[in-house]
Amino acid sequence: MQPPTILIVDDEQLIRWSLASRLSDEGYRIVEAATAADAIARHSEGVDLVLLDYRLPDGDGIDVLKRIKAADPETLVIMLTAHSTIELAVEAMKQGAYHYANKPFNLDEIAMLVEKALETTRLRREVRTLRTSQAQPYDIERMIGESDAMRATRALLRKVATSPASTVLLTGESGTGKDLAAKAIHYASDRATRPFMNITCSALPENLLESELFGHERGAFTGADRQKRGLFEMADSGTVFLDEIGEMVPVLQAKLLRFLEEKTFKRVGGAADIRVDVRVIAATNRQLEDEVRAGKFREDLYYRLNVLPILLIPLRERAVDIPLLLHYYIDTYNREFKKRVKGVSGDVLGRLQTYGWPGNVRELRNAVERAMLLGEGEQLTAEDFPMLTRTRGALTEGIELPANGIDLETLERALVVQALERSGWNQTRAAALLGLNRDQIRYRIDKFKLERTPA
Ligand SMILES: Nc1ncnc2c1ncn2[C@@H]1O[C@H](COP(=O)(O)OP(=O)(O)OP(=O)(O)O)[C@@H](O)[C@H]1O
Ligand SMILES: [Mg+2]
Repeated sequence: MQPPTILIVDDEQLIRWSLASRLSDEGYRIVEAATAADAIARHSEGVDLVLLDYRLPDGDGIDVLKRIKAADPETLVIMLTAHSTIELAVEAMKQGAYHYANKPFNLDEIAMLVEKALETTRLRREVRTLRTSQAQPYDIERMIGESDAMRATRALLRKVATSPASTVLLTGESGTGKDLAAKAIHYASDRATRPFMNITCSALPENLLESELFGHERGAFTGADRQKRGLFEMADSGTVFLDEIGEMVPVLQAKLLRFLEEKTFKRVGGAADIRVDVRVIAATNRQLEDEVRAGKFREDLYYRLNVLPILLIPLRERAVDIPLLLHYYIDTYNREFKKRVKGVSGDVLGRLQTYGWPGNVRELRNAVERAMLLGEGEQLTAEDFPMLTRTRGALTEGIELPANGIDLETLERALVVQALERSGWNQTRAAALLGLNRDQIRYRIDKFKLERTPA
């Protein structure tokens, strides 16, 4: 790949020289100009970024800025000025300058500014490429991320999509993209023109779920006043996505297993075996091995589903993907809210990358949406992302150690139980409420021998 080209425009040779030597050390290709006319000529040869002095012998920098932006709105321009006034800076930004720097400037600062500007453009270009290459809304390429983990996931999804083996198990924390992956598999497979049917196993009581999946005959139960086809029948030659499979009751687990092994099933209240060809994609944010060990999930079904397992990696373990996702959602909400946000200010990107994202990509998307609704200006700030600044519950202020002391273990246990109950026993979310990771909360669940009591 070609290094980015930087055009340095200043009539003072010494300034050009110091900038050029520093920036070429950073690996950029450097072009220089000493006059406005020369700047415009050199710019037309193709440059990525311009360092532009405000006062030039044959004109002023704002005019050059306007002409550069008119010729190529993509060019980044950083204004250099010794006569800094607020109005000048405002005018430059209004005309599309990326930033400005006051003379005498600090070379490190300029180098950082340049790097950040070029990185932002690279991300924006990449987002644009993603958008234009997305003919399909559920393309596998829509699973964004350049981390090794994400590349490997996409490669696996592609392979699985076209593989004849029909059953797939998607696992991963909430918000890691299991729904997205399920659709991506379907639309990348030769089943794409056939139905994609989707059901959340926890959303329906057992008997309704069964008849949703397998259908029923007339008179099968009170209220079954006509025959009904189930999802498996309706999705013939297509895909059925069983979300939250970990919540499926054992009776149905057995029926599903039979269907996966024999490709046939009976409608509720029916005698005939019905044969269909569907790919089953199951998803769960639970650890199915644990459920198996606890006797809540059939081991045989687990092994049957686990032939093609795909684990979606939590966002905190692929923090290098955060800049691209961030810019993707900034671009999304710029369109939706008709805003012109360009990025995040200062150290916000770094802080977003070290934040734990218990809700994964969904949480990031929601955070950017919120920030863009409430934030003002072209850069989102730390204040626009409350999870970066939020101090945890004011416990340390409100609580006072009773005179006769407390039993810390009992208090800890009580708080862990509360967090689990409040999150519906979702360990990830409960852990987030306590500032723990999943291993840490699991350790405590074991330690206190906590168990979910059936509702
Ligand atoms: N790699 C990714 N690239 C782009 N968007 C993503 C990615 N992963 C997830 N998303 C987006 O994040 C949001 C949550 O994803 P999704 O609904 O697929 O998560 P999930 O794993 O099914 O979560 P849950 O367990 O809560 O059902 C969606 O808006 C989805 O488009
Ligand atoms: Mg989901």
